[in-house]
Amino acid sequence: MILLVTGLSGFVAGSVVAQANKDWEVHGISRSEVPGLPIEIHAHHFDLLEKEKVAALFNEIKPDAVIHTAAIANIDICQNDPELGKRINVEITETIVELCKSLGSKLVFCSTDSVFDGINGHYTETDEPHPINVYADTKVKAEQMVLAASPKNVVARLALVMGLPVYGKGNSFLADMLDKSSRQEPIKFPANEIRTPIDVVTLGAALVELAGNDFGGIVHLSGNSRLTRYEMGLQIAESVGIPLNLVVSTDSNSMPGRAPRANDASMDNSLACRILKTPMLSLTEGLDLTLNFKK
Ligand SMILES: NC(=O)c1ccc[n+]([C@@H]2O[C@H](COP(=O)([O-])OP(=O)(O)OC[C@H]3O[C@@H](n4cnc5c(N)ncnc54)[C@H](OP(=O)(O)O)[C@@H]3O)[C@@H](O)[C@H]2O)c1
Repeated sequence: MILLVTGLSGFVAGSVVAQANKDWEVHGISRSEVPGLPIEIHAHHFDLLEKEKVAALFNEIKPDAVIHTAAIANIDICQNDPELGKRINVEITETIVELCKSLGSKLVFCSTDSVFDGINGHYTETDEPHPINVYADTKVKAEQMVLAASPKNVVARLALVMGLPVYGKGNSFLADMLDKSSRQEPIKFPANEIRTPIDVVTLGAALVELAGNDFGGIVHLSGNSRLTRYEMGLQIAESVGIPLNLVVSTDSNSMPGRAPRANDASMDNSLACRILKTPMLSLTEGLDLTLNFKK
């Protein structure tokens, strides 16, 4: 079975490819190279905006499944350059949706808890998205294309991802936190944002499982702990021995020049717990898993 993972150099893809490697022939695409990647993972380096190259690779390897993680995942970059956000998050997804459809490949698309406005929290898969920033809007548009193309496609809505990158640098707040604490710098966490964080190891395993099982539709991939990002920062600091006075509370919606954030984007993971063999974990369990993960 052949798996193609986009965003190979990214935080989530690193965990995906490390765990898919046992059971799949794994291919990945990113523009940048990934230090330390095992030789048996087939790395392809080009820009996903180059449609002909994407199509040529699909037609050459004919993937059974595709996990599409590549995106502009930074909310403020999308807000400041909506055209770029649309090209990367929507138009590239459209290319991948069409290629998967023509080859009959199952597509697992990485969406986000940010599709919700954050007014009610505890979101289930039947709740309607209501984007409040450009990033969320691009993800909702991409979700619609993925779901319309095939009933076997999956929209995996990811909660805030917590953990250490498996390969490369990755977009990891935990790595950033450890780095800042080593320099005794304050580490800011918003107290207004309620989240249900998922650790990157569990997430990678769940995405690989979704690529290989027969579930189709929307699924929320989130952890079992519901807490503010500030509370999360304090709990992690306590677990890893960072002085608690370095963890500073902020309000992400009162910072000038930043995109609006959903206050309570907590998600209900009951469906994931029912359909997946991969167990969803608490913050402490997930932290333990990511800190001790062996590639
Ligand atoms: N991290 C989170 O907390 C979180 C939460 C919810 C949802 N998500 C979603 O989960 C997915 C993965 O997130 P992540 O944290 O792993 O993001 P990430 O670390 O920023 O990785 C995204 C990757 O996409 C690749 N990429 C971007 N534009 C590209 C292009 N034009 N051509 C080829 N590759 C391109 C980048 O690789 P190169 O620069 O090397 O090309 C980058 O490594 C994203 O879809 C994100 O929206 C993430």
